[in-house]
Amino acid sequence: MAKRILVTGGTGYIGSHTVVELQQAGYEVVIVDNLSNSTAGVLEGITRITGKRPVFDKLDCTDHGAMKALFKKYAFDGIIHFAASKAVGESVQKPLLYYRNNLVSLINLLELMPEHDVKYIVFSSSCTVYGEPDKNPIDENAPIKPASSPYGNTKQINEEIIQDFVHSGAPVKSIILRYFNPIGAHPSAEIGELPLGVPQNLVPYITQTGAGIRQQLSVFGNDYNTPDGSCIRDFINVVDLAKAHVVAIERMLENKSDEKVEIFNLGTGTGLSVLELIGIFEKVSGKPLNYKIVERREGDIEQIWAQPDKANNVLGWKAQETIEDTMASAWKWQQHLLEKEIRSNIR
Ligand code: NAD
Ligand code: WQD
Repeated sequence: MAKRILVTGGTGYIGSHTVVELQQAGYEVVIVDNLSNSTAGVLEGITRITGKRPVFDKLDCTDHGAMKALFKKYAFDGIIHFAASKAVGESVQKPLLYYRNNLVSLINLLELMPEHDVKYIVFSSSCTVYGEPDKNPIDENAPIKPASSPYGNTKQINEEIIQDFVHSGAPVKSIILRYFNPIGAHPSAEIGELPLGVPQNLVPYITQTGAGIRQQLSVFGNDYNTPDGSCIRDFINVVDLAKAHVVAIERMLENKSDEKVEIFNLGTGTGLSVLELIGIFEKVSGKPLNYKIVERREGDIEQIWAQPDKANNVLGWKAQETIEDTMASAWKWQQHLLEKEIRSNIR
């Protein structure tokens, strides 16, 4: 019988791509999402790609009673927990919202798991836990630096909660995945990133500028200590990232490791600058991008890219897509959005 996976935040950007990969690998998926940062329309895109509509319950993970009823209704073999608030700037303005949402959601899941004999949870963490690296590429043993935002702090605290709970003897195993900068969209352009309002992240801002929705991209600083002066990131294709979640849940379901908690960096291992990425967008879209250099953005890390050897060797996962194909997928998705005339969602 197909294994059943609970995917929290499954209508969101990374969650929806992961649901596709899970379904294509033969898993049965139950999505819960409160639609605070996504729409139920995403389910249509997933269905068009996979030919199968995932079960969807509109639920808030912070609602213990509703989550308990969900665990009673379905027997889950494992959980992939994406649901969280993720805007760094907003977390500075509304810290309690972030602490409540991101911490209570995880605590509820961990409380319910042993009660309902669910043993495995994959958790979405972030390279943000490393802060400004002492050296690049950065591996999983690098020190965790004091968080520079409440959002980043929730990821650090969530990692600690998982470690403490699992090591307390609870019958739970976990894989913590630290994503670098996820970008791009499914090659079908049926699903992709759907930022509500003005995008805070680089790639949606680039593609919206390319599409004429935004007038001009501001590049935050060209006076960093990097070859071209702009910041450097490890941009990881979202489908590649999604595939890592299938491998991670499988690793636990098939008891491939004795470790109770494992942490993996998910990145390409290559750092690319903001200006280099703009150049790649111009190449794949065939049009020049209107951008200007402005002041640095407060709180930005100068440069960070992953040492992904552990994921490559232990998990058996490696990023496959080229940056050109990844940027082309982001651009195709942007054009699809325009065609569908759902611009009201993205303005
Ligand atoms: P997203 O906002 O697109 O997806 C998160 C989903 O969770 C949304 O659909 C939202 O409606 C839902 N959600 C939020 N709070 C909820 C709650 N209490 N109950 C139920 N649903 C809830 O974000 P994403 O980019 O897909 O990120 C997924 C996860 O990965 C998050 O935990 C995020 O912190 C983490 N992450 C993201 C990035 C990134 O750059 N996108 C990088 C590192 C880590
Ligand atoms: C990338 C680069 C900007 C927008 C954030 C979170 C991090 C993680 C991933 C969740 C930076 C530059 C951006 C723009 C620009 N998320 N930029 N003009 O800051 O690396 O990471 O998302 O865990 O926690 O902090 O991503 O896409 O915002 O920025 O020049 O309009 O692009 O300065 O150098 P970031 P980003």
